[in-house]
Amino acid sequence: ALSVIIDTDPGVDDFVALMLAKQNPQLKIEGITTVAGNLGSDKVTQNALNIVKFLELEAPVIRGARSPLGHSLESAEAFHGEGGLGGVKLPQSNQKCIEQYAWDFIYEKAVSLKGELEIIALGPLTNLAKALKKYPDLSQHVKTITFMGGSTGRGNRTPFAEFNIWADPLAAQIVFESGIPLKMVGLDVTTKGVLNETNMNKLLEYEHPYKEVVKQLLHFLQQLSKQMGKDTVMLHDALAVASVICPPLLTYTACYSEVEIHDEKYRGQTRIDLEHVTRKQPNVEVAIAVDTPRFIHLLEEMLKY
Ligand code: BDR
Ligand code: CA
Repeated sequence: ALSVIIDTDPGVDDFVALMLAKQNPQLKIEGITTVAGNLGSDKVTQNALNIVKFLELEAPVIRGARSPLGHSLESAEAFHGEGGLGGVKLPQSNQKCIEQYAWDFIYEKAVSLKGELEIIALGPLTNLAKALKKYPDLSQHVKTITFMGGSTGRGNRTPFAEFNIWADPLAAQIVFESGIPLKMVGLDVTTKGVLNETNMNKLLEYEHPYKEVVKQLLHFLQQLSKQMGKDTVMLHDALAVASVICPPLLTYTACYSEVEIHDEKYRGQTRIDLEHVTRKQPNVEVAIAVDTPRFIHLLEEMLKY
């Protein structure tokens, strides 16, 4: 099994991502750390606890950053519906988080797993940046960070920047400079690994304990897409988890990459040297292509059990 920590800000697509993680026994979820992003810390943390209960996950939930490093939080609540889960009302969990900060948990796990820990980051990179600042040797202990964020071109929060990186560019830059092997699952692939109406309907044919919830989540996303003039559904964070479960899903190219942290207009833009013109040492494996049918197949498998 792969030992993973999932760092997340649930979030509709984060929820689907956690479902996918739960359904794949090759992932051992060591912990779920929460980060302010789509919503504030209290809401994403309660959502994570409720999701853990709903999915019957064994993993502990650990609270992380309440706000980004260099900015105040501007959430994306409008895009995730009331409560952040597309209007889905899960039974309240009365479990508590474990009494530790996310960055300490991440470091301790990384050390105890002796280089085998993989981190999947589905929100702003604040917790990982805090961990790297507090524990400079962390980079020697983490196997990889796969993060959903960034883009080689256009953005979704601004014309230039993707939401997770835009929300905390300073944190992202710290992670980019960390020396940890990084895999970027950005908008280049998450806007292509999408479901159309036919795929969606097929997915919802399977009888499954999560069926009703999945239906509500997908329908919520579909409405959102329609409002933006599109007829496909994007599941950004789920693709990031899927890529860890099934690496051939994505094609990568290793590039020197940095994050815009100074200019307000381009805030959070990921500048990716796709053509290797800077001749600088590549620091990020950037996903540039996705096998969409295979991704959809993985989602179907998830709903067959
Ligand atoms: C990312 O932003 C969040 O709103 C989603 O959960 C995803 O992590 C997509 O840009
Ligand atoms: Ca997210």
